[in-house]
Amino acid sequence: MKLRKILMIPGLLACVVISAIAATARPKEDVKYTNLKVLPKNISSKDLQEIMADDFEDGLGVSCGFCHANAKDGHGLDFASDAKPEKEITRAMMRMTLGINKKYFKIKHPAIGSNAMTVTCTTCHKGEAFPDGGSN
Ligand code: HEC
Ligand code: HEC
Repeated sequence: MKLRKILMIPGLLACVVISAIAATARPKEDVKYTNLKVLPKNISSKDLQEIMADDFEDGLGVSCGFCHANAKDGHGLDFASDAKPEKEITRAMMRMTLGINKKYFKIKHPAIGSNAMTVTCTTCHKGEAFPDGGSN
């Protein structure tokens, strides 16, 4: 019994040190997105960038500014703004895509950007913003 107690002390110390390191590392890692309604709010910046670039840009053959409005100060894009209707249409498309995977392909935890998805933006869009072919 005594030996076990002695062994616990370095273990506890290691826990304290590890959580202290984790606490100081966090502010750097954690990019705070302010207006996510479909994607998980705690998504990593790597996952978010991959979805924006691979699923959305490549999937639809557009660039960021197709969905994201210009910043008010004229410098770049305001990614949190919902001023462009394409962004809200995209949210509806994301919900629809998740729903198709869940309901018809029985994927238990569908997530935009996940390899487990059977139907993605690209399945229908094939690099085109207007997949019905009528409007372009
Ligand atoms: C087809 C439309 C579309 C394209 C193209 C697109 N985005 Fe997005 N983006 C969205 C939508 C929709 C959201 C919000 C998702 C949600 O509500 O969960 C979003 C959210 C974001 C956010 C989070 C903003 C916040 O604070 O809430 C960032 C950052 C972002 N996009 C960057 C980019 C970049 C960089 C590109 C180009 C590489 C890009 N997006 C291309 C639709 C798009
Ligand atoms: C099941 C097929 C299907 C899937 C999956 C799908 N879309 Fe669409 N999407 C369409 C069709 C069809 C239209 C055209 C609707 C119309 O002409 O009114 C469209 C239109 C859009 C538009 C509007 C273009 C415009 O300006 O009128 C956006 C933006 C869009 N989709 C984004 C996405 C994104 C992002 C995904 C993946 C999360 C996605 N879609 C997944 C079929 C799909």
